[in-house]
Amino acid sequence: MAAQARAVHDDPRSLVPPVDAPQTFLLDYGGANLAKDMHVGHLRAAIVGQALNALMSFAGHKTISDVHLGDWGLQLGQLISQIADVRPELLSGDAEASFTMDDLQVWYPTASARSKEDEAFRERARHATAELQAGNPVYMRLWQQISDVSSRSLQRDYGRLGVYFDQWYGESRYQSMLDGIVEELLADGTAVVDDGAVVIHLPEEMKLPPLMVRNSNGGFGYGATDLATIKDRVTIDDPDTILYVVDARQKMHFRQVFQAAEQCGYLDGTGVEHIAFGTVNGTDGKPFKTREGGVMRLHDLMETMKGAARARLDEGGSVADALRDGVAEQIAIAAIKFGELNHDRESNYVFDMDQFLRFEGKTGPYIQYTCVRIGSLFAKAEEAGFTPGEITDLGDGGRDLILCLSDLPQQVARAVEQRKPSVLANHAYRLANATNTFYQANRILGGDASDAARQSYLTLLQAAIRQLTVCLDILGIAIPEQM
Ligand code: ARG
Repeated sequence: MAAQARAVHDDPRSLVPPVDAPQTFLLDYGGANLAKDMHVGHLRAAIVGQALNALMSFAGHKTISDVHLGDWGLQLGQLISQIADVRPELLSGDAEASFTMDDLQVWYPTASARSKEDEAFRERARHATAELQAGNPVYMRLWQQISDVSSRSLQRDYGRLGVYFDQWYGESRYQSMLDGIVEELLADGTAVVDDGAVVIHLPEEMKLPPLMVRNSNGGFGYGATDLATIKDRVTIDDPDTILYVVDARQKMHFRQVFQAAEQCGYLDGTGVEHIAFGTVNGTDGKPFKTREGGVMRLHDLMETMKGAARARLDEGGSVADALRDGVAEQIAIAAIKFGELNHDRESNYVFDMDQFLRFEGKTGPYIQYTCVRIGSLFAKAEEAGFTPGEITDLGDGGRDLILCLSDLPQQVARAVEQRKPSVLANHAYRLANATNTFYQANRILGGDASDAARQSYLTLLQAAIRQLTVCLDILGIAIPEQM
């Protein structure tokens, strides 16, 4: 056991060597939509997806991540029609005319509400969408502007969460492929014309409706885009597996798309998996909303969490003034992420801000606090001239602590196999508990501890913190300097 602990101490990843046969995973975990702000629904995809990305890399696989922005479709036609009314100069080629994300956040909801109520507006929006899709240069230029403004804002939100994408592609990327795809599929009989629409029939026993490739108005939808995306990804990146981290409510959509892609011959051996997740609910048990009843925007959510964390730090008074803002941010992000990641992605969970922010219990801040606390023990030990040494004494709880450390390889393997970072998050929580129990049960720096015991304990604790740091790194949780 001492040897195991020593191995973790010297190299925390020594127990988990990289896999022998690395694979390439392409992960699709963005899915935010242009002009609309990101909301908590996109939060699950981002947090689970980024952790899964880090987990796969840690295991030794190669990963490619793609944001797959929702940057095409009716919402843009609506937006363009709205802009034509409120800011016509943006459509008249005035090079000075510009706008911000704040403008878009006003225009888009208005446009979408108008479309619901106003038949004439809806017709204009549909027409504008068709014009855009046909490549109308004025609309294309405006679309590019909208795309740039939105992308900058999205990258800021994602970046703040520690979520990054290797590919910043959107649904628009695939539009030029669609006519060709339809032609090909009709020619070889994979797709058929049905009531004016082009569809792919799926095997009877799957009990799935046919995948709509082109509707009877000649428009392409979500299904066609995802089909073309698979073709593009397999041709260009040729991953072994594509993971779609998307809401469970899209389960049927992905079953249709995956099956259709197989029938089209696009998969060419590439695996495709829907990594489904449940809903985020509020403390009232209903889908999470703001107090006003709207969807909570990610930016506001992070600000609220940070404010609450900051208030806690101001109250506690143990963190230096100059550090407080940064630490509050780290705690807020940890609270949000661990609040997500300790739940099985397939289940729904309640977003309980107060509970997530607590420094005790099963929370991100609790695990951070464990690291900070042991960190300050090490600072004191160093001051006193004590150093970690050979492990000759397991003390009280040392055995459990080492058993927990030794369990990492099994947990990583399980997390990878099930595509569930929650497995690792739960390991991190158990390890934090075992570490705290050990820390509390043994006198470490006190006068009556023997040198041999002290050296053993310090090595054990350092091994624990090193492994915990590795886990937090994968989960995307930072360790504050003070707490
Ligand atoms: N933009 C979509 C939405 O907001 C999610 C996209 C998910 N990824 C995909 N390849 N379909 O619901």
